[in-house]
Amino acid sequence: MDKPRVVLGVSGGIAAYKACELLRRLTESGHDVRVVPTASALRFVGAATWAALSGNPVSTEVWDEVHEVPHVRIGQQADLVVVAPATADTLARAAHGLADDLLTNTLLTARCPVVFAPAMHTEMWEHPATRENVATLRRRGAVVLEPAVGRLTGADTGKGRLPEPAEIFEVCRRVLARGVREPDLAGRHVVVSAGGTREPLDPVRFLGNRSSGKQGYALARTAVARGARVTLIAANTALPDPAGADVVRVETALQLREAVLKAAADADAVVMAAAVADFRPASYATGKIKKKDDQEPEPLALVRNPDILAEMSADRARPGQVIVGFAAETDDVLANGRRKLARKGCDLLVVNEVGEHRTFGAEENEAVVLAADGGETPVPHGPKEALAETVWDLVAARLG
Ligand code: CTP
Repeated sequence: MDKPRVVLGVSGGIAAYKACELLRRLTESGHDVRVVPTASALRFVGAATWAALSGNPVSTEVWDEVHEVPHVRIGQQADLVVVAPATADTLARAAHGLADDLLTNTLLTARCPVVFAPAMHTEMWEHPATRENVATLRRRGAVVLEPAVGRLTGADTGKGRLPEPAEIFEVCRRVLARGVREPDLAGRHVVVSAGGTREPLDPVRFLGNRSSGKQGYALARTAVARGARVTLIAANTALPDPAGADVVRVETALQLREAVLKAAADADAVVMAAAVADFRPASYATGKIKKKDDQEPEPLALVRNPDILAEMSADRARPGQVIVGFAAETDDVLANGRRKLARKGCDLLVVNEVGEHRTFGAEENEAVVLAADGGETPVPHGPKEALAETVWDLVAARLG
């Protein structure tokens, strides 16, 4: 089988050096990559680096190798075009259909999926001109990643950082796997909670659970690749931020509730993949709790946490908002799942069987998705991203 052909467009920003790692990941995972830098990208990283890492010729202008008509051929033959970093200027030229160098010609001739990974200063990203260009590109079916928040060139910090290359690679992988299908969650805002809450007892101890956050992160990554604006509410996870998602970090159930309700206010769908503690310690000791040698330990008093999923389902922030819950069950899985779906009032409930060595922290999962309308979709044992795709299929069908 032919290797999938990827065009890596690189535009002129300091993050161009990070595109070397993305290129490396693409080639090492069996893709044939043609790098098309802009002239200003070559001020940051030279053509020799791109040629050596890709094993393919590199040009910025349409005037090289004219007999091969590269300005048409490269785009036509591509299975994916990814532009990383995409500067404000490149986004503008792409949005307006300019064709003044090889990269913009390639973008006009490509009929495959296109991913832009913007990187620029916060002011440029927030400028109405850039906002409109991004909206235009998204409307036309491109996946434009939200930049990450963090250190920018110089001492500045803010939104505008290129997401980590490994995470951009994950988006490319998923977009390639979807083929030429349109990003069906484009224009949608989805909220995903992930991880497990921690309920503090004192400054050093907490009540927690074994959730790794992997399923929630797979849901966030998959939604990004399907074009959604994604807010990921992450409770105590040790995973890298998915490219293109806005990540909000929380610790306790009450913090998770506040963050989810805030993000859900304008969301089309909310997926509660987080393992939320049902109870929290009734009191918090501001100093470390000491043992007393001559006394038995005090029993631990607990109080109920609010049920966020039930609360959101009963009082939807928007009409037609689709709400998805997860249920971890150890026995009588389907019957318990049905009862829980009715009790929580959500539209879909992903039921999986857990145990000491099952699901928690694993790369794979097996589940049944129960629907409030009686539907039942089994998802065979497989990667967590396959379950994520099924969940978004069911959500997309309900969003209409
Ligand atoms: N959930 C929530 N708020 C809580 C507890 C759970 O929003 N306080 C959500 C979880 O994110 C998950 C779903 O509810 O999507 C199911 O959680 P689970 O712990 O399995 O259900 P419980 O209601 O706790 O039922 P039980 O403990 O009886 O199994």
